[in-house]
Amino acid sequence: MTSLVLTITETLRYRGEIGKWAWVLHRVSGSGTFVFLIMHVIDTSWATFYPELYAKAIDAYKTPLFTAGEFVLVACVIYHALNGLRITLLDYRPQWWRRQADTAKLVLLGTLVLLVPVFLVMAGHVVNYYNERAGAFDLGLDKMVEATAPFAIGTVIVLGLGLVVSAGASLIPSLNAPRKRLKGSKMETFLWSFMRISGVLIIPLVFGHLAMMHLIQGVFDLSRVGHVPVFTNLGPNMDDTLTAVNFVRLRWDTMLAGVYIWRVYDILLLFLVVLHGFNGVRYIINDYIHNRVVNRALHLALFGTMIGVLLVGALAILQSVPATTAEMLSQTSRTIGVDVNPFVR
Ligand code: HEM
Ligand code: HEM
Repeated sequence: MTSLVLTITETLRYRGEIGKWAWVLHRVSGSGTFVFLIMHVIDTSWATFYPELYAKAIDAYKTPLFTAGEFVLVACVIYHALNGLRITLLDYRPQWWRRQADTAKLVLLGTLVLLVPVFLVMAGHVVNYYNERAGAFDLGLDKMVEATAPFAIGTVIVLGLGLVVSAGASLIPSLNAPRKRLKGSKMETFLWSFMRISGVLIIPLVFGHLAMMHLIQGVFDLSRVGHVPVFTNLGPNMDDTLTAVNFVRLRWDTMLAGVYIWRVYDILLLFLVVLHGFNGVRYIINDYIHNRVVNRALHLALFGTMIGVLLVGALAILQSVPATTAEMLSQTSRTIGVDVNPFVR
């Protein structure tokens, strides 16, 4: 904790080059995106497991404070991606190291250049939404508290559990033997490369996802009756009770060349961003938290949450029996008079 305070005060005091700010921004943007990601994967899984809750969550996402957060999120993702690409390129091209400052400035410039059109398009969606619903502006603080409270409570519980288990573990002598040096270990070297490779692979996936969810359509379209969800071929979303849930179903049920294209896409995105983000947060914890018990508690909490998020996210994508497949199969059953799928609901 003292090292966190020291980092903040020294960062503000230190009149260093732009490289210092690039490091701070990379850390802050990565952590911000990470917090959103945990909430987002759990929320999205409700489309399969608790449809009513998902509809409520998307309702909360449409409130002004969440809308402001969405702009910050997009800025974080774009800056972090471009700066991550810069780090990766420089790591493999030592001859460019003397251009550190220039490349950091280039990343800032690139972020601003990308953000101007992106923000304009996103603002267009927001203006359209409020134009269609004159007088509907409501800060929606109650919805926001309702949507975030379960996550705040969950965080406290997971951290508390981590502390209890870690404190218990400190009573077992073999678990308190001097720690092996991790730096330089094969695992750490692998993770170092993984952060760079996964980062580069994430760029097209996350930029594609954001383009679909922010540019081609806005978050408001998720619950719009009569709207054809982006890159789907199953027709408009006509469900007027659980529109947002149906939006996700239509996306996950869309097939291209015999493949559930958005399920495959989302699974790839899920595993890459979750593994990358959790390992990134592990680096941050190790930089600031040196107390043995607290450090172990945070690692346990982090690891448990990571497994939970991967499981919940992957199960949500895999479990929901596609309505269209079910429909197709039951039609086949009727035509040929044989029950080809006893599991059709
Ligand atoms: C969009 C493409 C992305 C690229 C190119 C990228 C690249 C990188 C790179 C190169 C690092 C440095 C790793 C190291 O120091 O060894 C890093 C760290 C990190 N990334 Fe990403 N990343 C991306 C997306 C994400 C996403 C979506 C998240 C959140 C879920 C995230 C969270 C983090 C965190 C928390 C760190 C640790 C920051 C630190 O140690 O200061 N990244 N990223
Ligand atoms: C506010 C901005 C965003 C919106 C409105 C949004 C919307 C959605 C929607 C509707 C889905 C359901 C499936 C689909 O249609 O493909 C989804 C899934 C997903 N999104 Fe996003 N997304 C946003 C930002 C992000 C960001 C920044 C990331 C990565 C850091 C991300 C990662 C994912 C993942 C991993 C899934 C799969 C979830 C699961 O396994 O249950 N999303 N998103």
